[in-house]
Amino acid sequence: MRILLTGGTGLIGRQLCRSLLNQGHDLTVLSRKPETVSAKCGSQVQAWGSLAEWKPAISFDAVINLAGEPIADKSWTQDQKRALWDSRVSLTEELVSHITAVHQKPKVLLSGSAVGYYGDRGDSMLSESESPGHDFSAQLCDAWESVARRAKSLGVRVCILRTGLVLSNRGGLLGRFLFPFRMGLGFRIGNGRQWMSWIHIDDYVAIVTRILHEESFSGPYNMTTPNPVSNAEFSRILAKVLHRPALFVAPAFLLKFGLGERAALLLEGQRVLPTKLQEVGFQFRYALLEDALEELLRAS
Ligand SMILES: NC(=O)c1ccc[n+]([C@@H]2O[C@H](COP(=O)([O-])OP(=O)(O)OC[C@H]3O[C@@H](n4cnc5c(N)ncnc54)[C@H](OP(=O)(O)O)[C@@H]3O)[C@@H](O)[C@H]2O)c1
Repeated sequence: MRILLTGGTGLIGRQLCRSLLNQGHDLTVLSRKPETVSAKCGSQVQAWGSLAEWKPAISFDAVINLAGEPIADKSWTQDQKRALWDSRVSLTEELVSHITAVHQKPKVLLSGSAVGYYGDRGDSMLSESESPGHDFSAQLCDAWESVARRAKSLGVRVCILRTGLVLSNRGGLLGRFLFPFRMGLGFRIGNGRQWMSWIHIDDYVAIVTRILHEESFSGPYNMTTPNPVSNAEFSRILAKVLHRPALFVAPAFLLKFGLGERAALLLEGQRVLPTKLQEVGFQFRYALLEDALEELLRAS
């Protein structure tokens, strides 16, 4: 397959590129720093610095759209919210305009989203049919998904990757937690009751591969394991796997004071279930958090 990826240089994108190259696909990665693409994604990958390079005569079989300004790294000022929005919603709009313009449309568009789509829903179990929440993250995901869905009217199969916390030993949230936990300074966040819906990066890549190839897949997919855990449980299991204690608490009021609105990413959660993946019998290689962490930390 000829595949165009946005966000191919990111945490998920790099692993996806490695796997897709191994499967023999032909990859083009859109990046703001095209000169870094071959080092990050593989020397066989073609790099584009702008979508202006997508001329109407160039065709792809699939487009995978994962680009986005990191949501947790900076304070949510109005400017930063604009950057978060533009890098997802506006970029996806641009992508769909190009799909409209090209002579031969891709067969499938896999476009990013996050479990933040559902907003803070306490202990409710959330399948793909639940409605979106109302906070900033939810509105961002809802708008991002809506724009991607426009490609359906062009005859493109559209699949939305409603992504949970992706566990990798190359960065992401696990990368941030590891240092304090390894130092014996493990902690839960606030009351620890907020849900964390997680997925091992190998399972994520396996699901993307299946969605690419199976025409029966369409619409939103919760990219999470069937076994979400509370934050307190996550901390307990991470500490157990590292053979360290986790005795501390990161108090909610301090996080709200230090992070402002962004503290919601840590203090709120969603108990998400991969209902549609389970219906088609997808077998998670790492369905239990302890197994996923054992594997990732052994390999790191
Ligand atoms: N990792 C997770 O746990 C998780 C959870 C839920 C949702 N997601 C979503 O899934 C997608 C991929 O996640 P990831 O962890 O791989 O993300 P990542 O490591 O932060 O990479 C995102 C990619 O997006 C591009 N990008 C960053 N800022 C941008 C901007 N301002 N404008 C345009 N492009 C920009 C970057 O590519 P260049 O620098 O090459 O341009 C980068 O490689 C993201 O959209 C993320 O929000 C991830």
